[in-house]
Amino acid sequence: MGREQPAEWSHVLRFLGLPAMPIFPESGVGDHVPEERAELFHALTHSGTELESLLMLHALVLSFKPELILETGTDTGLGTLALASAAAKNGFGKVVTVDNDEQKYRTANAAFRSAGLERYVESHLSGSLEYIGGLPAGTSFGMVFFDSRSRLRIPEFEALYARGALGNLAVFHDTSKHRITTQPHKGTDVLRAYLGGLDRIAKEYCTGEIVMPYSRGMRIMQVKPLATPLTSSI
Ligand SMILES: C[S@@+](CC[C@H](N)C(=O)[O-])C[C@H]1O[C@@H](n2cnc3c(N)ncnc32)[C@H](O)[C@@H]1O
Repeated sequence: MGREQPAEWSHVLRFLGLPAMPIFPESGVGDHVPEERAELFHALTHSGTELESLLMLHALVLSFKPELILETGTDTGLGTLALASAAAKNGFGKVVTVDNDEQKYRTANAAFRSAGLERYVESHLSGSLEYIGGLPAGTSFGMVFFDSRSRLRIPEFEALYARGALGNLAVFHDTSKHRITTQPHKGTDVLRAYLGGLDRIAKEYCTGEIVMPYSRGMRIMQVKPLATPLTSSI
């Protein structure tokens, strides 16, 4: 599944705060339909975010200058590093990342230290909904990258929204409508509920969105401010 790594990609890895590692065509890593153009995308691991999407995350942080970023689902830390390396370029900001898998938490923390980015990262070993439930009142994330399990991402958004914790950008990964047919092992009902939930969130809670239909898919939404957090009276 590997292919020769063009020299320019090693610069991109460094730019994103990632270690040198092999790069694979996404078409060899995940199941896709031709419309997803996966042969034009690049993956570093099976579960980690594609390079092109990591670049998008990095560019969003450079462009929107969020002070506080949340990532649900750390995995080996690829998304976290792409976000944190942009915060480092900005000179401020912190990425809070949560994962409930202890091995992944440890692996990712080691990666943050090796990249010298640990001061831009706050890593939690926790379920995402449990972490969100314990957030101090007044916490507001300028950007949230929803990348845990598909079944958790809509509840994560709703829990954050109810607390008034969504300050601007909500970025959802794995949003290709073709995943219902290409990823049946993830549960067709779960994927339908996720994609339907995204359409509802875009319509009810957001001022607009950019839909990236290729590879695993990405939707970048801009959240309407909530005048009064629903938890303020509790
Ligand atoms: C697709 S991977 C995340 C990829 C990563 N964000 C990246 O950019 O490479 C999904 C991760 O969600 C984690 N996860 C599963 N259930 C979770 C939960 N309840 N709370 C937080 N993380 C969870 C898994 O352990 C896994 O590491």
